[in-house]
Amino acid sequence: MHKHHSALGVASSLRPVQPVTLVRPHAAQRAARFFTEKFPGRSLYAVKANPSPDLLLNLWEGGVTHYDVASIAEVRLVHDTLPEATLCFMHPVKAEEAIAEAYFTHGVRTFSLDSQEELDKIVRATNGATDLTLCVRLRVSSDHSKLSLASKFGVDLADAAPLLMATRQVADALGICFHVGSQAMSPAAYAEALTRVRAAIVSAAVTVDVVDVGGGFPSVYPGMEPVALEQYFHVIHEGFESLPVSYSAELWCEPGRALSAEYASVLVRVERRRGDELYINDGAYGALFDAAHIGWRFPVALLREPESHAKTIGFSFYGPTCDDMDRMAGPFELPADVQPGDYIEIGMLGAYGSAMRTAFNGFTNGETVIVEDEPMASLYIELAEPAKLAGRVIKL
Ligand SMILES: Cc1ncc(COP(=O)(O)O)c(C=O)c1O
Repeated sequence: MHKHHSALGVASSLRPVQPVTLVRPHAAQRAARFFTEKFPGRSLYAVKANPSPDLLLNLWEGGVTHYDVASIAEVRLVHDTLPEATLCFMHPVKAEEAIAEAYFTHGVRTFSLDSQEELDKIVRATNGATDLTLCVRLRVSSDHSKLSLASKFGVDLADAAPLLMATRQVADALGICFHVGSQAMSPAAYAEALTRVRAAIVSAAVTVDVVDVGGGFPSVYPGMEPVALEQYFHVIHEGFESLPVSYSAELWCEPGRALSAEYASVLVRVERRRGDELYINDGAYGALFDAAHIGWRFPVALLREPESHAKTIGFSFYGPTCDDMDRMAGPFELPADVQPGDYIEIGMLGAYGSAMRTAFNGFTNGETVIVEDEPMASLYIELAEPAKLAGRVIKL
């Protein structure tokens, strides 16, 4: 991968025709170190957020040794990329063949489930293995989060006791896991979920060895500026400490977004301007799925030399495909004199950005290059080296 000093340098020197993914290995390593040093337990990276092998290697470099995988393709990918990593198969509804391959070929020992059927499936697929860590997924509220994960998976508290007891019978280690929804804007999400975990443990009267608080840790986007992650960690630590679990019980988390968002941004070119609408060369079927489908706003910057001093106005974007759905409403704040041929960096796309890309209509991304400048916003950098963001903090 080619290395460049800055996003602006890529725009000026390459003048790329296709969108370019800009990756920042140092940002991924910083996020990984933050979690491995400060989270009061073990941090698993949720691979679905961004399965790029380069990112996986950087997170490993930053100390992340455990990975939450949700499909057999992710199991194979992580096993090939990081042969020494520990994999946890945390999708509550798996193909029986996937469980068997994960167990027998890739050494996976940790699985999640939210039904008796899935428990039976795991027992069958592993030939009644006795070395399993089985995590029962509890349904919790997504009220504090921007993206709900409360409907599809999770056993209700009222039905949890029999499943916990049945799982305890076959598991070497019993876990309880949950997901508060993605981009949880308040630490209270975890406090409330842990209260539900307590009720489940009390009602089942089982010994619990692992409490896995899942993902949901936020990143920073325009209009979404969470409190410091340390406050989340503090609330989780307190909630965990008060649970009726064994002294040796482990606390886990599975961040996807928080570990990957700052890793990547996308450099796009403006192909046409129509009033306050910009036609750009990436969109809803590319890295901007969330911007199109759930109206998420991302930080943007016009990369032009000399710099524009025009006042900023709000733009919407059209992507490159031929349908109206390829539209990102924004508003995205950019200097009023943006023109066709200009380059725009769209930031914080390391999580659920590049990972969502398709080749629909023949539009896909071009190169991926490394840049050494800082991400457009950060949950980590202000704490560490505030001076570094100077001149690069984009209006959120
Ligand atoms: C089981 C599980 N763990 C972790 C994550 C990662 O969540 P986030 O990216 O919000 O941290 C997800 C996301 O869907 C998930 O389903």
